[in-house]
Amino acid sequence: MRLLSIETSCDETGVSLIEWKANSDSFRVTKNLLVSQIDIHREYGGVYPNIAKREHAKALPLLIEKAMEGLEFSDLDAVAVTYGPGLSPALWVGIEAAKVLAQEYNLPLYPINHMEGHIYASMLSEIKKNEYTFKPVTYPAIALLISGGHTELIHISNEHVYKKIGETQDDAVGEAFDKAARSMGYPYPGGPEISKRAKIARQEGSIVRSELRLPRPMLHSHDLNFSFSGLKTAVLYALQKNELNDEEKQAFCMEFENAVTDVLVKKVKDALYLYNAKSLIVGGGVSANAHIRESLEKVCKKEDIELLLSEKSLSTDNALMIAAIAFAEIKHDIPATNPEEIRATPNLSLSNTPL
Ligand code: KG4
Ligand code: ZN
Repeated sequence: MRLLSIETSCDETGVSLIEWKANSDSFRVTKNLLVSQIDIHREYGGVYPNIAKREHAKALPLLIEKAMEGLEFSDLDAVAVTYGPGLSPALWVGIEAAKVLAQEYNLPLYPINHMEGHIYASMLSEIKKNEYTFKPVTYPAIALLISGGHTELIHISNEHVYKKIGETQDDAVGEAFDKAARSMGYPYPGGPEISKRAKIARQEGSIVRSELRLPRPMLHSHDLNFSFSGLKTAVLYALQKNELNDEEKQAFCMEFENAVTDVLVKKVKDALYLYNAKSLIVGGGVSANAHIRESLEKVCKKEDIELLLSEKSLSTDNALMIAAIAFAEIKHDIPATNPEEIRATPNLSLSNTPL
């Protein structure tokens, strides 16, 4: 079996090609290609949907051609594509391409939920070079999905059975990193910029001045929701009132990272306890953050919870996670979807997946 997958929900164009033998529990990644638009969006300090669409339209045909080197489209057995959540104009580019392939070559088409993709990215295990299978998960599990567009806690009672139990009321955590970094004069994406400075401050044992202390929004809200827009505003006010040198800026980055981590850790602990969870799955671009990873590792170790994190390279958007879900769907004999019925669904929630 050979499957081509396409991901164009935000600012990364991804195409991957996977292959497996009938009845196999693992698949081989033949191609996993990515073109990032980060340098283009950096100029604007964020992602503009129509620019993202234009760049996907430029990159996607080239990536598909590269993925298919030495093959004919008739050599494919299936196609998978992200249909939401994401930026509508960006999603359409991938969906249109996948529809054309499915219709022209009579291939089964699998529409995939991007957030479920992030969950699966953390479930992937590379058993030998480029050969992947899924890690065993003990249910019930909690998934913490933290990206540029989402901050969600998901209860997974069993394989593919999802319920959203918490989410941000305003900005996503990645967005807060990006906006805080922008206020500090650092380029997009802000997560890695803040994180590398925070690391230095932590290593040097820097102390944060009291007037630079930041709030831990909704820490005691008695629910599993988040709010990060106040944190972003607090960063802006603190910078307006205080002139910071480089060292103080590093300490301020650490304070920001600590504030975010404190909230994430508290809500994760509450969710694990409330749902008597056995596993924690962490996915999305922000899960590349070393401090957040280490803090969650500590919680899981202490509470004897199995922690599933993705390889760092698969924590941000990619097409391999989309292929992985389609592989699982095919193995479970889940029928493909009529291409005519697939629509870009920007606000798709995890409970709405066809699974
Ligand atoms: O999942 P992703 O690639 O795209 C979306 O679906 O949004 O996540 C991108 C987000 C950006 O906001 C970026 O700043 C953040 O992930 N990010 C990080 C780190 N690396 C990427 N945030 C904190 N620390 C990092 N090391
Ligand atoms: Zn994502």
